[in-house]
Amino acid sequence: MACKKTAKVADKAVKKNVKVKNQLPTKNARLIAWVNEIKKLCQPKNVVWCDGSKKQYQETCDLMVKSGAFVKLNPKKRPGCYLVRSHWSDVARVEDRTYIAAKTREAAGPNNNWIEPDGLKETMRNLYKGCMKGRTLYVIPFSMGPLGAPVAKIGIEITDSPYVVVNMMIMTRVGNKVLKELGEHGEFIPCLHSVGAPLKPGQKDVMWPCAPLEKKYIAHFPEDGAIWSFGSGYGGNALLGKKCLALRIASYLAKQEGWMAEHMLILKLTSPEKKSYYVCAAFPSACGKTNLAMMEPTLPGWTVETLGDDIAWLRIGEDGRLYAINPEYGFFGVAPGTSYASNPNAMRSIKKNTIFTNCALTDDGDIWWEEMDGEPPAHAIDWKGNDWTPDMRDKDGKKIKAAHPNARFTAPASQCPVIAKEWEDPAGVPIDAFLFGGRRPHTIPLVNEAFDWTHGVFMGSAAGSETTAANLGAVGVVRRDPMAMLPFCGYNMGDYLTHWLSMGLRTDPKKLPKVFFVNWFRKTDDGKWLWPGFGENSRVLKWICERIEGTAKFKETPIGYMPTESAIDLNGCDVSKQDMKELLSVDLEGWKKELEGVFESWKPFGNRMPYALKAKLAEIQARLESAK
Ligand code: GTP
Ligand code: SPV
Ligand code: MN
Repeated sequence: MACKKTAKVADKAVKKNVKVKNQLPTKNARLIAWVNEIKKLCQPKNVVWCDGSKKQYQETCDLMVKSGAFVKLNPKKRPGCYLVRSHWSDVARVEDRTYIAAKTREAAGPNNNWIEPDGLKETMRNLYKGCMKGRTLYVIPFSMGPLGAPVAKIGIEITDSPYVVVNMMIMTRVGNKVLKELGEHGEFIPCLHSVGAPLKPGQKDVMWPCAPLEKKYIAHFPEDGAIWSFGSGYGGNALLGKKCLALRIASYLAKQEGWMAEHMLILKLTSPEKKSYYVCAAFPSACGKTNLAMMEPTLPGWTVETLGDDIAWLRIGEDGRLYAINPEYGFFGVAPGTSYASNPNAMRSIKKNTIFTNCALTDDGDIWWEEMDGEPPAHAIDWKGNDWTPDMRDKDGKKIKAAHPNARFTAPASQCPVIAKEWEDPAGVPIDAFLFGGRRPHTIPLVNEAFDWTHGVFMGSAAGSETTAANLGAVGVVRRDPMAMLPFCGYNMGDYLTHWLSMGLRTDPKKLPKVFFVNWFRKTDDGKWLWPGFGENSRVLKWICERIEGTAKFKETPIGYMPTESAIDLNGCDVSKQDMKELLSVDLEGWKKELEGVFESWKPFGNRMPYALKAKLAEIQARLESAK
């Protein structure tokens, strides 16, 4: 009798399970309709909804180990870590194939590749037709920002890349909790992604499927709030919550709604007197945001804690100050150059549960990259999967790199030993200072403070940097990159700068952060760094705090307020007086040329360029002219 009853219960449970299995995890009609539409268009083998569980994360990693796409690293060295090698052609964001499909070319602006939306949709629909054949379609519900925070945005990424699934699970908040928040009628930003490599029946998959460059499209439809990405599996091209949603689409929404979406780290700096300051800094890709965000100050008594390393969303709070949150949940950091010497807290963050892309594999099952601490390994497998030894040269006699210069680690932010306790506070943190910067070997001083908000916006708008490996293209050429947002502003940059200026009208401008321009990248004529950088940057941060307090030694120069020669604390730092002088001098002739370059870079924006910035440029020019 008891036995029969048990069998009946078990039977019921199985039936219930089957029912649950067939049931969708959401009742959101718009979401269900969209998933069905994409399923019909892309024709995947099957559909998997990402629930956000550890189990599903592990199963997806295991699947990739089984297929050979993931190399499981030595658990004694890197528990829970994997290495992936991308296709040699799919290694960075592709700005040339990144589009803003606004109704008019003017709306997208000269800073974006504009494309007509209806035509692009037709082209891309043709590409998407059957593009997931032989693959699994994953539905990833994700939240940018702490779940339920007033500023958070929900996105749904559909992808056929399990690599994207596990990376999104680290970089964003993913799963059923997001669907619960979305509810039956909630809004979401649809983000469609395919690697663009369907499989014929019986066809063997490659390790890193992707489409050739001319078929890649990273498309944004800001007016519809949609993202369509095709053909690339790498970083910002494929993890659509990051640059596509949290910057390009968010910047467009922010302009409409009166807030800001910026390419900025967020850090908390605490003085020996235990006073804390919150700082946001905008540097272009691969120009030091992750490093500054996790910095270990060399100045005794000072601490830095991390809130974010790449993106900040900012709003004016009830007290009139600007509050920032980090919409992300993890770090997608540049690997080469990261070491215990340069960024110890990044090294500690990537000890476990990390995905490494395009790094080298050592013989003991660990990862390696250029400029990691200690001697290079005697032998490794490089990012292309070939045997590598430190003495290897290419046909031009140049050292062959073991890791790709844009190799990356994906690590949970919670693993950072100096993550600030308030990093998930939905209200955000009040910002005391904005820093702008870039890689500028000449002219631009170590630090310079804006006279006022308009001058600060001018400084950001005039930012430039040598290009890096974070984008596919020439490396090391100076390009203007206003607010480090040139590749990420989802609309006309002229309007974006107007929006920045308008923040000074929305609140008492004195309540806005003080603005500084920093340059860690000055070089000597023989190509050596003039400034030691990294933890030593805390010396500049200290001066900035003293400026906030009104206690710093400073002088007025034609380009802004700058430290006097003795103002920066150099105790225990071996920068020579001569070098410091050079780092803090105003090169009048160099600056005149600099401003000509800035003026030139504004020309394409025509009358979209705010008048206040033109006036500020003229003012600085006049100050330079009258300086002796
Ligand atoms: P994205 O993730 O692409 O947005 O880059 P990021 O701005 O976070 O740059 P990251 O901190 O990863 O630094 C990129 C490179 O710059 C690394 O190779 C660093 O070693 C180097 N770097 C960072 N800070 C400094 C510094 O203060 N001085 C010098 N010389 N190099 C630095
Ligand atoms: C950048 O390029 O600024 C990055 C990396 O942070 S990616 O996610 O590829 O955009
Ligand atoms: Mn970035």
